[in-house]
Amino acid sequence: MSDDAGGAPVHRVARRAAGPEESARASRVWWERAADEYQAEHGAFLRDAGFVWGPEGLDEADAQLLGPVEELRGARVLEVGCGAAQCSRWLRSQGAERVVGIDVSGRQLQHARRIDEHTGVRVPTAQADVQRLPFAAAAFDLVCSAYGGLPFVPADAALAEAARVLRPGGRLVFSVSHPVRWCFPDDPGPRGLTVQESYFDRRTHVEEDAAGRAVYVEHHHTLGDWVRAITGAGLVLRDLVEPEWPEDNEEVWGGWSPLRGRLLPGTAVFAAVKPGGAGAAAG
Ligand SMILES: C[S@@+](CC[C@H](N)C(=O)[O-])C[C@H]1O[C@@H](n2cnc3c(N)ncnc32)[C@H](O)[C@@H]1O
Repeated sequence: MSDDAGGAPVHRVARRAAGPEESARASRVWWERAADEYQAEHGAFLRDAGFVWGPEGLDEADAQLLGPVEELRGARVLEVGCGAAQCSRWLRSQGAERVVGIDVSGRQLQHARRIDEHTGVRVPTAQADVQRLPFAAAAFDLVCSAYGGLPFVPADAALAEAARVLRPGGRLVFSVSHPVRWCFPDDPGPRGLTVQESYFDRRTHVEEDAAGRAVYVEHHHTLGDWVRAITGAGLVLRDLVEPEWPEDNEEVWGGWSPLRGRLLPGTAVFAAVKPGGAGAAAG
């Protein structure tokens, strides 16, 4: 849920349908306002050129969920919901020269420009919706995302888009909130350990302004829903990683905390492949 303060004022929380357009618009409204605070609060944890999969701190440099680092060299990579493009910058540092990020929020992309200037590692980006990628079919060897875009839209259309822009043999690897979190209050403390809602309730979480317009939308998909959305997009699921909370991570990030993280999964990372082609990420 929208624990990261700094977004639009919320008048009411509803559980109701929210379609692709409304979802994308709400995210744009929310992240234009939340971007500054998000980067100020989490920038150090994310690092200017670091690929962190979620609040547990699972680092791609160790996990290699995108495949072996050697295969990143020369790969054509798209990062969706890139925010300030910290992951893309890390990919550049690993030799992936053709990396592009998209994000629905112009303000997040301004932070990408700020870090580009500061680090001298520039990532091309475009302001776009994950449900309508402005790229040709089969344009990428790898599509990746750390909590970017996918938790905030209906899964089917976004995964179909990701599959479309992947070449045969290319990989899609993305992290989202672990679906089990849905039934607990989004509270980092003990209150966040008691089931409050049904895991099976798929109604969308919609935060509205005083005029009833959605200003923050989060969709709920069960684990099975994600698997079906991935296979329905014509991809083959290769792995589902549930990062454990490391002993030395004391970070509290919205509803994610050491207390909850040691008891419950907080992040799900899905790794899938588009059938055909050579099978490796690099082209
Ligand atoms: C939790 S942040 C993650 C950003 C970045 N991946 C990171 O790890 O810091 C979620 C990002 O998804 C973006 N986003 C939300 N809905 C989107 C959509 N429909 N299309 C593209 N990006 C979207 C937001 O603007 C925001 O930058």
